[in-house]
Amino acid sequence: MNNSLNGKHIVLGISGGIAAYKSAFLLRLLVKKGAEVQVVITPNGKEFITPATLAALSGKPVVSEFFAANTGEWHSHVDLGLWADLMIVAPATASTIGKMANGIADNMLITTYLSAKEQVIVAPAMDLDMWAHPSTRRNVETLKKDGVIIVEPQSGFLASGLTGKGRMEEPEAIVEAAETYFEEIERCNRDLKGRRIVISAGPTYENIDPVRFIGNYSSGKMGFALANECYRRGADVTVVAGPVDRTLTLDAGIRRIDVVSATEMLEAMKEEFAISDIAVMAAAVADYTPAEPLDRKIKREHTDDLVLRLVKNPDIAAELGKEKGERLLIGFALETDNEFENALGKMKRKNLDMIVLNSLRDKGAGMMTDTNKVTIFTSDGKERRYPLKSKKEVASDIADAISTLLVR
Ligand code: CTP
Repeated sequence: MNNSLNGKHIVLGISGGIAAYKSAFLLRLLVKKGAEVQVVITPNGKEFITPATLAALSGKPVVSEFFAANTGEWHSHVDLGLWADLMIVAPATASTIGKMANGIADNMLITTYLSAKEQVIVAPAMDLDMWAHPSTRRNVETLKKDGVIIVEPQSGFLASGLTGKGRMEEPEAIVEAAETYFEEIERCNRDLKGRRIVISAGPTYENIDPVRFIGNYSSGKMGFALANECYRRGADVTVVAGPVDRTLTLDAGIRRIDVVSATEMLEAMKEEFAISDIAVMAAAVADYTPAEPLDRKIKREHTDDLVLRLVKNPDIAAELGKEKGERLLIGFALETDNEFENALGKMKRKNLDMIVLNSLRDKGAGMMTDTNKVTIFTSDGKERRYPLKSKKEVASDIADAISTLLVR
């Protein structure tokens, strides 16, 4: 079996709670799985479990003070932070969580946390009322926002007789959280590493006059979710964005080219595809554009009825399809009827390797939603149907499908 903890450097931070005795079991499990573990304990933690036990289990002296008592040697939290592939704080008391959330660096555990370059997992342990307190809730939320993984504590009975949470999760569950984290990293680093991908997203706006346009309801959510997913899997990603929802964000490291019209999008996509391995057309491109866009605002008194003549826009996917060679080209199809037939027809006509179909007949699918329900067709004749999921999860399914095309 693949063991994702083998050879990993883990800093185990222990703070002062009854659950500290469980940390010895946690430490033993981590070591058994092949991890190298350095224990950092708070002064209070030592009241609950002896450094001697922890040193024996980890095979390393336990770090607690900024200076080693006997030699006066300076313990470098910065070095520890750099050494660690993962830091686990278990148990994390209300006080330790509060200090972590607010950067109160008055012990070695907190300074190490502030220097940690990689993921941190926190297993809280405290009295149930303390866990429920708004102050703790705020601090836990802050840690989550800072990217910390919280292993939710277990339930127990409050003094009032009601149930609440607070008991530290079992060591096995904490180990599982660590394993899941490393597996995710491995998965993400694996399949799209070294690939250059360009993704179009959002609507296009076609100007009628300087203040009016023809557009559509596309938000760009699906394209942005896919861009972030591909980037996290190691791809080099460029997004060609139409006028998307302003609240959408891309991971730092993703290039973004903003365009407005279909013609601008075509230019940008052509240029990027020439230096990419994969192009994904997630944008909802306007099929028609005003034949004679005006430089001046159309005045209402000019005429009683106004006829706008539209001309066809270029089909960007089809244009890229003509020149794709060995590269991969992926399209989307948003349909209201004859979904499968239309999607397969588009894949063929535009010379795509894969098409992601979403039907407007499915509730929660398509534009302006946070969810989507898709069927993915690939040019090798395979068809994958998925249930309704968040766009982030759909992005992961699409990336999986892209990755199978790459190894073909
Ligand atoms: N597409 C494109 N350029 C266009 C229109 C669409 O590149 N001018 C791309 C879309 O980004 C999508 C795929 O083609 O990946 C299918 O888009 P869709 O609007 O469903 O299909 P159309 O070809 O426009 O067909 P129709 O509107 O008739 O359904």
